[in-house]
Amino acid sequence: MSDVKILAIESSCDETAASVVVNGRDVRSNIISSQIDIHTLYGGVVPEIASRKHIERINQVVQEALDQAKMTLDDIDAVGVTYGPGLVGALLVGVAQAKALAWARNLPLIGVHHIEGHISANYIENKELEPPFGCLVVSGGHTHLVLVKDYGEYEILGKTADDAAGEAFDKVARAIGLGYPGGPKIDKAAKDGDPHAIEFPRGKVRGSEYDFSFSGLKSAVLNYLNEKHMKGEEISVPDVAASFQRSVVDVLVEHSMHAVNEYGFKKFAIAGGVASNSALRQAMEEACARRHVQFYRPSPILCTDNAAMIGAAAYYDYLKGIRSDWSLNAVPNLKLGER
Ligand code: KG4
Ligand code: ZN
Repeated sequence: MSDVKILAIESSCDETAASVVVNGRDVRSNIISSQIDIHTLYGGVVPEIASRKHIERINQVVQEALDQAKMTLDDIDAVGVTYGPGLVGALLVGVAQAKALAWARNLPLIGVHHIEGHISANYIENKELEPPFGCLVVSGGHTHLVLVKDYGEYEILGKTADDAAGEAFDKVARAIGLGYPGGPKIDKAAKDGDPHAIEFPRGKVRGSEYDFSFSGLKSAVLNYLNEKHMKGEEISVPDVAASFQRSVVDVLVEHSMHAVNEYGFKKFAIAGGVASNSALRQAMEEACARRHVQFYRPSPILCTDNAAMIGAAAYYDYLKGIRSDWSLNAVPNLKLGER
């Protein structure tokens, strides 16, 4: 079969991204236009601003992706695009762009699930990785422990009962004055802190070994900060960051390794923005090594939102003959495994 060249578009949150991926794993370009600077002014993503910025940037980002790949639309075989989950107005910009390009060029259109994209980011740098494997998806909106049965076939073993892991990072970062985006800032501050300085709780969900809960931990951090404030005592930002991070990482690793033991995974991957967290990467690597499980994690630039991961996922749909029609719409709360 000749090479399959997919132009992929991602605009579900605050990055406008486009990429050209050949045969699902060979990334020829990966353009990411971040809106972080403007959202930082408001302490988080403002949906209306995100949509407007996507509209301003999308044409140029797609053109840059083609240019960097040294291709034109004439070379492209299919257009892949994130259609959910995410912010509806943000998603719509990418979906409309992808539909317009596919229509104009008479190309197949493939709507991709954002989380499936995150999982598929692992294929890009690990050419030998194939399902089945276990995967922990930790992003700003999602915390899923997933059994990847085959390409495009998933079983969700556990998920968060309240906040997503990334959301907890962002909220705690705001509370200790680190600002947005919280994850990378806590990661950095924690390097100078003592992870054992403060004993924060490990979230548990009654009756479930695989589900997660982070709202209790978030409240515990807020209570700790309040108490210190009332007593007029100083807080150590690095110690709070490191102790909070340890609590999150411990739970993520514990649940993941429980699944590894129960399901007998030989391969385990992490994905999503929080998968770029240095403490999580190290702890997972060690836990997998102890169990002789092959551990996979994308480079940090492929963990946070990007379109290369969407191109990787779209390729396996393309091979299966999955196509979206012109009624493709943004689905803000799309479930993994649904179409
Ligand atoms: O996957 P992603 O880019 O967007 C979503 O699909 O949500 O994930 C963004 C999330 C944010 O909550 C951000 O704070 C978190 O990932 N994040 C991190 C790190 N880098 C990004 N969390 C912890 N440590 C990091 N180094
Ligand atoms: Zn994401």
